[in-house]
Amino acid sequence: MRLLLTGGAGFIGSHTSLLLLQRGYDVIIYDSFVNSSYKVINVIKSYLDSDGIDYKLKTIKGDIRDKSSLEKIFKDSIKEGNAIQAVIHFAGLKSVAESVKYPLKYWDVNVCGTKNLLEIMKDNECYSIVFSSSATIYGLTNAVPISEDQTVSPMNPYGKTKVAIENMLCDLFKSNMNLWKICSLRYFNPVGAHPSGLMGEDPIGIPSNLFPYITQVAIRRINLLKVFGDNWNTEDGSGVRDYIHIMDLSEGHIDAIGFLKSKKSIYESINLGSGKGYSVFQIIREFELSTGCEIPFLIEGRRDGDVAEYYADISKAERLLGWSPKRSLKQICIDGWNWQRNNPEGYT
Ligand code: NAD
Ligand code: UFG
Repeated sequence: MRLLLTGGAGFIGSHTSLLLLQRGYDVIIYDSFVNSSYKVINVIKSYLDSDGIDYKLKTIKGDIRDKSSLEKIFKDSIKEGNAIQAVIHFAGLKSVAESVKYPLKYWDVNVCGTKNLLEIMKDNECYSIVFSSSATIYGLTNAVPISEDQTVSPMNPYGKTKVAIENMLCDLFKSNMNLWKICSLRYFNPVGAHPSGLMGEDPIGIPSNLFPYITQVAIRRINLLKVFGDNWNTEDGSGVRDYIHIMDLSEGHIDAIGFLKSKKSIYESINLGSGKGYSVFQIIREFELSTGCEIPFLIEGRRDGDVAEYYADISKAERLLGWSPKRSLKQICIDGWNWQRNNPEGYT
């Protein structure tokens, strides 16, 4: 089965690409490399080569806003007699802070880019798509665990583009309910790395998220961690989130593709998280215990836009996809540290 992975060279896309190729899927990665390195493609290939796996992978550099380039991929696949049967749509911009500064850029790439992709899919009779949505769409919420039927109220332009895309997907489904198979996966906090230590998260510049920040403190690229608030209404006063191992998240995409394959038509939004909440202090402690690295920190004021606590209700993913996370927080820390230790400067 041939799949198109937009943004397939990114953090989540690269781990999912490798897993799909290991399971025998034929993969086309389409990525502009604005937030990823071509080196990850070579890592994927050499990993599969060393395992003696016969695989089918094409990588094409391009932007999802470039209609003719996207169109050519679909048409060429049809000409080869190997049409693209489904798309996993990771491509997009994901920085909350940047989206506040440059909202139009986010609406253009995320929303207009997705509209392009959907038009081309429709024109080429490809009707299955798994979309990368985000828990950020739930915004300020007091009710944890968060289930999919909770009202969405995104607090930043990034989150608003994800809601807009979900709405566009839902409208498209309703326009022809016998045709489209759509699964919107709402990720919580993807962290950790491939167990080989060869692939992981490689943020450009200073990380804005907790986990890559911690691994960079551990490798001493950064001196100390700033904990954004110890006076939240949580058990130890620090913020609580749902951290999910990147490998568990990647497996969720394989299950989502299988789920779509088994349906005549469908539209679903599904949370992918660990279903557990951990505080910043718990993460620091577990990282120190699992890796033996000391993480010096200081307490800072709260970060704008943060919420005290959220974690996912993952019963829908368990029920519909037959998916559940298997890896512990300890495994997240070990794998994340292994990646950072082997690649102190990431892919560069
Ligand atoms: P990432 O930045 O590592 O990957 C995104 C990929 O898309 C990159 O390789 C980038 O080069 C590519 N890209 C960006 N704009 C493009 C364009 N116009 N055309 C083609 N390619 C383009 O991010 P990620 O963490 O792998 O996230 C993947 C998806 O999941 C994103 O849509 C993101 O919004 C969503 N998501 C991520 C998280 C997270 O915490 N990592 C959480 C929730 C949702
Ligand atoms: N935190 C710190 N210090 C840091 C970074 C974060 O104390 O240097 C704290 C935050 O205050 C929060 C927790 O660590 O309590 C997690 O913060 P992250 O920035 O790692 O993650 P968020 O949950 O705030 O947001 C991330 C992405 C969003 C995405 C969301 C859910 O940034 O885009 O996960 O997927 F939508």
